[in-house]
Amino acid sequence: MKESKKPGLGTQSLHAGQKADPTTGSRAVPIYQTTSYQFRDTEHAANLFGLKELGNIYTRIMNPTTDVLEQRVAALEGGSGALAHSSGQAAITAAILNIAGAGDHIVSVAQLYGGTYNLFHYTLPKLGIQVSFVDGDDPENFRKAVKSNTKAFYGEGLGNPRLNILPFAEVGKIAQEVGVPLIVDNTALSPIPVCVMVYRLILSKLLSKQSVFIRRGASLSSPTAT
Ligand SMILES: Cc1ncc(COP(=O)(O)O)c(C=O)c1O
Repeated sequence: MKESKKPGLGTQSLHAGQKADPTTGSRAVPIYQTTSYQFRDTEHAANLFGLKELGNIYTRIMNPTTDVLEQRVAALEGGSGALAHSSGQAAITAAILNIAGAGDHIVSVAQLYGGTYNLFHYTLPKLGIQVSFVDGDDPENFRKAVKSNTKAFYGEGLGNPRLNILPFAEVGKIAQEVGVPLIVDNTALSPIPVCVMVYRLILSKLLSKQSVFIRRGASLSSPTAT
C-alpha cells in the first residue's frame, strides 16, 4: 500500500481544517451566518453546555467557519490549537488574561506596536498586572527582569515599527528555563517562516494576524492565537 504523505504547507494553507460539506460538496468553506444552533433535545443541550459533548453552542463561542480558520492556522503554525478573535488587541488581551491576573507580572520587549504598548503600559496595570519593558535584542534582558510573580514573556516576531526580528530561539530557551510561556505577536510574519524554524516548539502562544497573510480582505480575517 502506498504511504500517505503529510500534506505540505501549500496544501495545508488551502485545505487544513476543512471537511468538504457533506450535503453540497462545496469546495469553498461555507460562511455560517448563524448566531445560534439547534439542539437535538434537552439532553443534547445540557451536555453541550456542561462540556460533556463537543459541539456548537453559540457563535461568539464557536462557529464552523471560524473553526476551519482556527484549525488551519494551528496546522500551519504547528500548534495544538487556535482561537480566533476579531482584532489583534482582543487576541493579545485574551492571551495575557488567560495567564496573568492581579498581582502578576510579565516581561515584554520595549519595541512594540503602539496599541500594545498602551495596553501594557496603561491598561494592564489598572487590572493589577505589572509589565517590565526590556530591550529584546539582548535575550538575557528577559532573564534579568524576571520576578517571583512573572507569568509570561512577550515579543513581536517582526517588531512594529522597528522591523527587528525577535531572537525566538534564545528568548524561548530562557522562557523554558524560567518556566513561563513566550507569547509572540506574529502579525507581520506569515506562518511559513515561523513554521520552518526548528525552534517553533518553544513558542507557547503565537498570535498571527490573518488579515495580512491569509485570505486578505475576505471574511475570515480575525487574528488568531495558537
Ligand atoms: C504588531 C501589531 N500587533 C497588533 C496590532 C493590532 O491589531 P488590531 O488593529 O487588529 O487590534 C497591530 C496593528 O497594526 C500590529 O501592527
